[in-house]
Amino acid sequence: MIKPHGAETLTPLYVADDAQRAELRKEAEQLPSVLLTSGAAASAVMLAAGYFTPLTGYMNIAEAISVASDMKLPNRLFWPVPILNMVHSEQITDVVKNAERIALRDPNVDGNPPLAVMKVSAIETLTSEQKHHIIEKTFGTTDPEHPGVPAYADAGDNIISGQIQVLNYSYFPEDFPDTFRTALEIREDITSRGWKNVVAFQTRNPMHRAHEALCKIAQEQVNADGILIHMLLGKLKPGDIPAAVRDASIRTMVKHYFPKNSVSITGYGFDMLYAGPREALLHAVFRQNCGASHFIVGRDHAGAGKYYGDFDAQDIFDTIPDDALEIGIFRGDFTTWCRKCNQIVMMKDCPHDGDDYFAISGTKLREILAAGENPPPEISRPEVAEILMEYYQNEAR
Ligand code: ADX
Repeated sequence: MIKPHGAETLTPLYVADDAQRAELRKEAEQLPSVLLTSGAAASAVMLAAGYFTPLTGYMNIAEAISVASDMKLPNRLFWPVPILNMVHSEQITDVVKNAERIALRDPNVDGNPPLAVMKVSAIETLTSEQKHHIIEKTFGTTDPEHPGVPAYADAGDNIISGQIQVLNYSYFPEDFPDTFRTALEIREDITSRGWKNVVAFQTRNPMHRAHEALCKIAQEQVNADGILIHMLLGKLKPGDIPAAVRDASIRTMVKHYFPKNSVSITGYGFDMLYAGPREALLHAVFRQNCGASHFIVGRDHAGAGKYYGDFDAQDIFDTIPDDALEIGIFRGDFTTWCRKCNQIVMMKDCPHDGDDYFAISGTKLREILAAGENPPPEISRPEVAEILMEYYQNEAR
C-alpha cells in the first residue's frame, strides 16, 4: 500500500492505550486550559486520526509562514495549509503563560471537555501583516465575505504551538458511528477488502449524477479496485447540506447505482475551509494517509462562489515538486448530462458542446426540491432526490 505522507507508518495522536488515556484525562482536568476554535478542534481530530501524519501538533509562527509562503515546513516537508491553534488574548492568562502543559477544550461538545493535552512549545503573537499573509496565501483572498476566511481572521492573534496527545474524536464517533473513520481504520479496511488501487473521492455534497459519473469514470481510468467515498463531516457554511442528510443520500446512491462491494463509504472530522487549491492539496495529503493510490480533483474543488477558477485546484498540482506527494491525481473535467450522447459525460471526452449540455443552477435545484417536485433525472437519481426533498421541505425551513 502507498506510504503515508513523509513517514513509514501513520502517526495518529490519539492515545489508544486505555490506562494511559485515563491518566491523561485526569491530568487534563487539573491543567490550565484554553477553549479551542471549532477549526482547531477539528485539526486535533485530524491529527488524532492519523490523517495529518507526520505532524505532531500545532504549528508555530515560523512554520505557519513557511507553509503559507512555500507550502513546506522549515524541515522541508511538503505541507499546504497552516495547522494552527489561534487563541484570543483573554485566554492567555498568567497560568496559561507559565504552563508547560495545558488542556485544550472542545467547543463542539457540551460542557467543553478536554479534547487534548498539549506540551506547550511557544506562545507567540501574530502581527497583523503575518496574519494577513497567512490568510492571503491559504485562501488566495482576505475577503471577509469568503466562507472560510473568518475562521482564521476572527480567531485570536495568539498562536500556541506544540505537540499534542488527543483524548477523543470529539462529536464525530457519536454523531456518525457508521461513517466516521480514522485513517488507520481506512487502511485496515482497504487491506481487508484486498484492494490494491483505490481512488478516493472528496465530497461535501449529496451525490448527484455528475458526482456518481466522476467516481465511475475515475475508477475505470485509473484501474482502481475500489472507490473510497470520503465525506466531510465537520462544519460547513450556512446553506450547505448537513452531514446526516448527505450521508443518507450517498448511501442510497451507492446501494442503487454502484456494483456491490466496489465502494467504501466513510467520513472524516474536519471543518470545510473552502480554500480551493490549497485545500485540494491538503485533501490529497490526507487521502494518501488513508492509503488511497489516487485522488479525484474535479471542477471547482473545495471552492465557494467565484473565488477560484474552475480548474485552479487542479493546476496547483503542477506547481509542487514531483516528490511532494505519492498519491496520483485524477483530474476530472466538467461532468454533465449530454443530450446528444444521452448520458452523463466528461466534457473533454465528448464531441458536443454548449446547448447540448444540460445545466441547472444549485439555487434552481434547491427550489425544485423544496417545492416537492422531482428534479430532472439528468441531474439526480430519484432515490437521492427523495431524501433531499424531505430535507428541503422540513428541516431546511
Ligand atoms: S467539494 O467542496 O467537496 O469539492 P463537491 O462535493 O461538490 O464539493 O465536489 C466533490 C468533487 O466532485 C470535487 O472534486 C469537485 O471538483 C467534483 N465535482 C463536483 N461537481 C462536478 C462537475 N459537475 N464536474 C466535474 N467535477 C465535479
